[in-house]
Amino acid sequence: MTKTYNICLLPGDGIGPEIIAEGVKVLDAVGAKYDTAFSYTEALLGGCAIDACGTALPDETLRVAEASDAVLLAAVGGPKWDTTDPAKPRPEQGLLGIRKALGLYTNLRPVQIFNALADASTLKPEIVDGVDMMIVRELTGGLYFGRRERFYDEDGCGTSGAAGQRAYDTLEYREYEVERIARQAFEAARKRRNKVTSVDKANVLETSRMWREIVHRIGAQEYPDVELEDLLVDNTAMQLISRPVDFDVVVTENMFGDILSDEAAQITGSLGMLASASLGDGTALYEPSHGSAPDIAGRGIANPLAQILSVEMMLRYSFDMNEAADDIRRAVTAVLDEGWRTGDIKQVDTLADKIVGTVAMGDLVVSHL
Ligand code: IPM
Ligand code: MG
Repeated sequence: MTKTYNICLLPGDGIGPEIIAEGVKVLDAVGAKYDTAFSYTEALLGGCAIDACGTALPDETLRVAEASDAVLLAAVGGPKWDTTDPAKPRPEQGLLGIRKALGLYTNLRPVQIFNALADASTLKPEIVDGVDMMIVRELTGGLYFGRRERFYDEDGCGTSGAAGQRAYDTLEYREYEVERIARQAFEAARKRRNKVTSVDKANVLETSRMWREIVHRIGAQEYPDVELEDLLVDNTAMQLISRPVDFDVVVTENMFGDILSDEAAQITGSLGMLASASLGDGTALYEPSHGSAPDIAGRGIANPLAQILSVEMMLRYSFDMNEAADDIRRAVTAVLDEGWRTGDIKQVDTLADKIVGTVAMGDLVVSHL
């Protein structure tokens, strides 16, 4: 009997609607092959939700997402909604809000090189050859969700005596939050090369010292078979571009993970290729690691591959459809091997007639399934 899954689609802003259509196309194609039907409910998140409802995360969106088997998100944000006025809604609040509301504390960001794109990296080919890491970013704690405030301080902080604005954000973690993300990292490592690098700033931050202690306890008690190393975040930033091949699983707190995952993405040469999965105890969410690229929105030239690879992750992590997921990866690899490129990943030797738009790239992937 045909199995049916309900997917909540959040196209968002910018290139979002264009790329998500290609993700859906690929999902429908593999569904047909594996006797699985996907039904879709579209909802608003980010700037488009602000325009329509005055809030980046409308209640209705959360209701649809919670009732779905998985959420496929494209991207949110754009210059239209950029503001530093704390009283105005921001598209990013929709993203942070849905992560928190769905309890998506684990963010998996795989960083892999497609051979055909090896020379797209700004690093030397011999440095990036064979890069294959999984960044496990804690996603619902730390600075992103801590107490914060901005106010006018009449006393001038008691130091220089000058009155002025004052602001703070707090970096806080609880033991259970570190324990559960550590377990996710160790579990991921067991399915890979059995090594975890835990990234912190334990020479300065108390949260980091606690983080390190807890990760080591979980490792020693529950995963003695997995190799564990610690690395300070500043040093990690350096090692990532000097010896990226050495990294297997990298686990770190929310803000460090945000920064390091962009850096790691650049190793592959294009942020346009990287997918991500955000997992919790309920409905999971899948999205490309890149943004909404407002500068090229509506022109049909955006790279849909990170979105399509997010669909691959959805099949693996939410539906246990590993064969179908493998099919997608194989198809994307084949399309790239044949020389097809979107503008962002074109190379010096890319033939002009092999540069394709968003829809054509989606069609090519489907034709290889
Ligand atoms: C990401 C993004 C988001 C984050 C922004 C858009 C809020 O940079 O998913 O990495 O900081 O988490
Ligand atoms: Mg980021």
